[in-house]
Amino acid sequence: MSVKDDNTTEFNNPNLKVLITAEQLRNRIREIGAEIARDYAGRRPELICVLKGAIVFMSDLMRAIDLNLSIDFIAVSSYGKGANSTGEVKILKDLDGPLEGREIILVEDILDTGLTLSYLVNNFRARGASSIKIVALLNKPERRKVEVTPDYVGFEIPDEFVVGYGLDYGERYRNLPYIGVVRE
Ligand code: IMP
Ligand code: MG
Repeated sequence: MSVKDDNTTEFNNPNLKVLITAEQLRNRIREIGAEIARDYAGRRPELICVLKGAIVFMSDLMRAIDLNLSIDFIAVSSYGKGANSTGEVKILKDLDGPLEGREIILVEDILDTGLTLSYLVNNFRARGASSIKIVALLNKPERRKVEVTPDYVGFEIPDEFVVGYGLDYGERYRNLPYIGVVRE
């Protein structure tokens, strides 16, 4: 354990700049939830959370959608980040249930290059989902490599690496209650 001579904690770490506050997240997620509830009125969508990053968003979003819905989880790894990007996506943990005839809402933390979501949309379509929509808390449109258009977006952000509210930097910072940028 390190000895610290100030009041610095994980959440008020001076290396982090707040980009979106907890209150802004709360308000926007309430709006998106209401919009989804209106759009899917009388239907029974399945929310699919892309682990691990979308878990915090998912848990708040589902409580803002006043509908009869179900949830499932999938974990993927993508090798599309490096210089020799292949865009290859691998399923690490698969869904529990079948998708045949289901109306899917894919819940993602951030839409960056689009490789992960374009892979998942094609994969879910092949498994017989009857409709697939995407809700992304954050969108970095400048970074797109393949065309993916989210149906619902929380916030458009510039091309900066963000952490918190589920998003990590080397598995750290997922527990921040806000979205921040790590200062170099
Ligand atoms: P895509 O396939 O490039 O769209 O990648 C999306 C995934 O990359 C997200 O689910 C995140 O896990 C990760 N990612 C992209 N940008 C960031 C960021 O700024 N901070 C943390 N993770 C990110
Ligand atoms: Mg991730």
